[in-house]
Amino acid sequence: MQPKISVTIGKLKLKNPVMVASGTFGWLEELDGLMDSKKLGAIVTKTITLKPRPGNPSPRTCETPCGMLNSIGLENPGLEVFIDEKLPALVKIGIPIIVSIASEQDTEEFIALTKRLDKINAVSAIELNISCPNIKNSKLPAYPAGRQTPNSKLIAQDPKTTYNLIRQVRKITKKTLITKLSPNVTDITEIAKAAEAAGSDAVSLINTFTAMSIDIETRRPKIATITAGLSGPAIRPVAVRMVWEVYKKIKIPIIGMGGIMDTSSALEFFIAGATAISIGTANFVNPKISIEIIEGLKKYLLKNKINSINKLIGSLECKI
Ligand SMILES: Cc1cc2nc3c(=O)[nH]c(=O)nc-3n(C[C@H](O)[C@H](O)[C@H](O)COP(=O)(O)O)c2cc1C
Repeated sequence: MQPKISVTIGKLKLKNPVMVASGTFGWLEELDGLMDSKKLGAIVTKTITLKPRPGNPSPRTCETPCGMLNSIGLENPGLEVFIDEKLPALVKIGIPIIVSIASEQDTEEFIALTKRLDKINAVSAIELNISCPNIKNSKLPAYPAGRQTPNSKLIAQDPKTTYNLIRQVRKITKKTLITKLSPNVTDITEIAKAAEAAGSDAVSLINTFTAMSIDIETRRPKIATITAGLSGPAIRPVAVRMVWEVYKKIKIPIIGMGGIMDTSSALEFFIAGATAISIGTANFVNPKISIEIIEGLKKYLLKNKINSINKLIGSLECKI
């Protein structure tokens, strides 16, 4: 008998627990024909803001040992263009669409985005990207990893700010609400607990690490905005550790991500406590990788005589 790999995240029923991570597969147009996207458990869109954003100056990406830096700066066409021009093609695929949103300004913008998306049936869930600017009237229009300056705090770096934002958004939607956490914190469990207490249905972790890389010949930063977000296999052990720590502290599901490149790295996340996973940087290496991982998970469960992925979640054997 085939093992059961369907999972539930809030009200969302996923036929399998594998999604593509926000910002790492364009609007799917780019990957059209390169992968069978209807086989995915869900799609998380690139983060949308109320108004269009041109994103950060180039260079925006570079390779690093076992990973990459990116500073895209939340380039997106804005909410209304997304709804009119991008969403219809995504809906056609026939799998759940999770829309990632961020505010350029303040909580009001999160509320406006949520109110509009709440009315759209095709939107299955909303992911709050709280690695985003929360400071009004910043002089800089964009900064890597959602910051307005290298040193300003992200929403996800403060449990109270996280709680207050989610509490307000929760009041205006019954759709599944997911909160995406930042790893750039001392204790991620404090932020995860705040998200759960405020009514988030799930947490996604992790977003990228603030990092930098230097061209020694020019002595200039390799990325125009100087610092950028590190992703890929280099961050995986930290991501797995964070999933495991959060799993012990909250009851809502965790969507795990950070350097998942193949089935075995995906399995680490489930064993640590993730209910579902997202594939990010690996899409740039092999756009079919998510589908291969879905097959790999089934094979692993069969081989180990585990009849449901749910039995694997948080099954880490340790005596501490
Ligand atoms: C090029 C690029 C763009 C990204 N854009 C977004 C984004 O718009 N919103 C978001 O929440 N995360 C964004 N991320 C972060 C990923 O969704 C993911 O959390 C992170 O890269 C860790 O997973 P990975 O190591 O598998 O890539 C982006 C990552 C990359 C590499």
